[in-house]
Amino acid sequence: MKTRVAVIDYGSQYSQLIVRRVREIGYYSHLYAPADIRNIGNVGAVILSGGPRSVTEPGAPDVDFEFLQSLNAPVLGICYGMQILNVKWGGKVSSGASREYGPADVRVEQSDRILDGVGSTFRVWMSHSDVVTGCPPQSSVLARNPAGHPVAIQWSPSFYGIQFHPEVSHTEHGTRILKNFLSLMNRQPDFSMASYKDELIQSIREEVRGRSVICAVSGGVDSTVLAVLLKESGVRLRPIFVDSGLLRKNEPVEVARNFREMAIAIETVPAGDKFVPALAGVEDPEKKRRIIGDLFVKVFYETAGDIELLAQGTLYPDVIESATSGSDITSRIKTHHNRVDKILELKREGKVMEPLADLFKDEVRALGRVLNIPLEILNRHPFPGPGLAVRIPGAVTKEKLDVLREADDILVRHLKESGWYDKTWQALCVLLPVKTVGIKGDERSYEHALSIRCVTSRDAMTADWAELPHTLLRQIANAILNKVKGVNRVLYDISTKPPASIEWE
Ligand code: XMP
Repeated sequence: MKTRVAVIDYGSQYSQLIVRRVREIGYYSHLYAPADIRNIGNVGAVILSGGPRSVTEPGAPDVDFEFLQSLNAPVLGICYGMQILNVKWGGKVSSGASREYGPADVRVEQSDRILDGVGSTFRVWMSHSDVVTGCPPQSSVLARNPAGHPVAIQWSPSFYGIQFHPEVSHTEHGTRILKNFLSLMNRQPDFSMASYKDELIQSIREEVRGRSVICAVSGGVDSTVLAVLLKESGVRLRPIFVDSGLLRKNEPVEVARNFREMAIAIETVPAGDKFVPALAGVEDPEKKRRIIGDLFVKVFYETAGDIELLAQGTLYPDVIESATSGSDITSRIKTHHNRVDKILELKREGKVMEPLADLFKDEVRALGRVLNIPLEILNRHPFPGPGLAVRIPGAVTKEKLDVLREADDILVRHLKESGWYDKTWQALCVLLPVKTVGIKGDERSYEHALSIRCVTSRDAMTADWAELPHTLLRQIANAILNKVKGVNRVLYDISTKPPASIEWE
């Protein structure tokens, strides 16, 4: 087992980002609850994360200080982590009069190994209201903020604290500071996705213990990586693909073929005749989502029968999305499953596994590459769970779905042929609930308007519209207008997110 950098989670929204940065620097890292600290094993260094609580309030999360001291490993407290360590070392923390949030310039007072190479002042990202108002006698203040409060402290040769967030990209030299800290371990970096894969497989085997595993596949990156990882682990796997009838053109056939080529037989459940009628006359987007989500769960569990173990492709961003503030570490459930009693029941019975829950999207892609999953699958655009239903504002019908499928197929093919597919985050067509007058041949037509939306994005939180070349837009529009029956007008959506969203519903 490799040396681990244990990140203790005090509930900061950035906790997993610390883990990710440590892995980028080249060491194994995982997030642990404060109570688990004694069970981690092979700890090379410990980082205490930030958190929303105040060390001055009763019942604030604690740290097993005695154990930390016995570890003989470097320890870094960040934000809340620094404050709690300062108290443990005999210093003082007080509630700040105001919150320090956002960028701040800090002044280095005493150069030290962990601030090596950062200069005399540097800009950091702050997010706190409590401040250190007294340091114990044996400690050294390494840096202060503009108000004069200590923001980098050394309490002992291996115990450090910083008030700002080195894991956030807005902090200048943040990675350098983490690297400097990790160099205190005196160990060469040894993390790679290939060896992480081996570790994952090992822990999957331990978790599965001979049980048969069911998972839902969609053809998307996460569920594909999950299924291939499970297959590589040698577990008995039953991947179920629910064809909701709301998918792209030829998608069910292509997904089954892709899996076959990776030597995985998936079980396709044709269920369009359940989903499409259930949506008849439903116009409210959230109601559509609910109907689709509930039906998906129903069809999936009816097909699955008795479940010994369910594997979910939950990623870390899903975890933060569904965690309430304060980050209850036990509530890692994919958002749309929150409502579903079944999954909670399975969780209570210990029948749910989420092997990818530590990973960000690009790390999952990197894992997919190590698993030899074809790039064409790994680079697929995200596709929403409710499928094309959220790209048909108003009531969904089989006819509208067929029109949209044709237009979408033309869009995607043109983007792939022109090399623009890989330059965009997502590309979609929206069939508008508006009919307009046009001319086809000698006759007037009265058909739907359709909007094309191509966006660039890093993480879907914000997005910009893609500046596709006009000639390409012209080719796409011409192809749609000529080949898709039911559409006589094509628009290009030039809205940024925010204020618009990527999908229309
Ligand atoms: P918006 O439209 O909110 O979308 O900017 C952000 C990202 O999320 C996807 N999306 C969904 N994915 N179920 C999903 O699984 C949904 O209900 C859903 N709605 C939006 C969207 O495609 C984009 O990638």
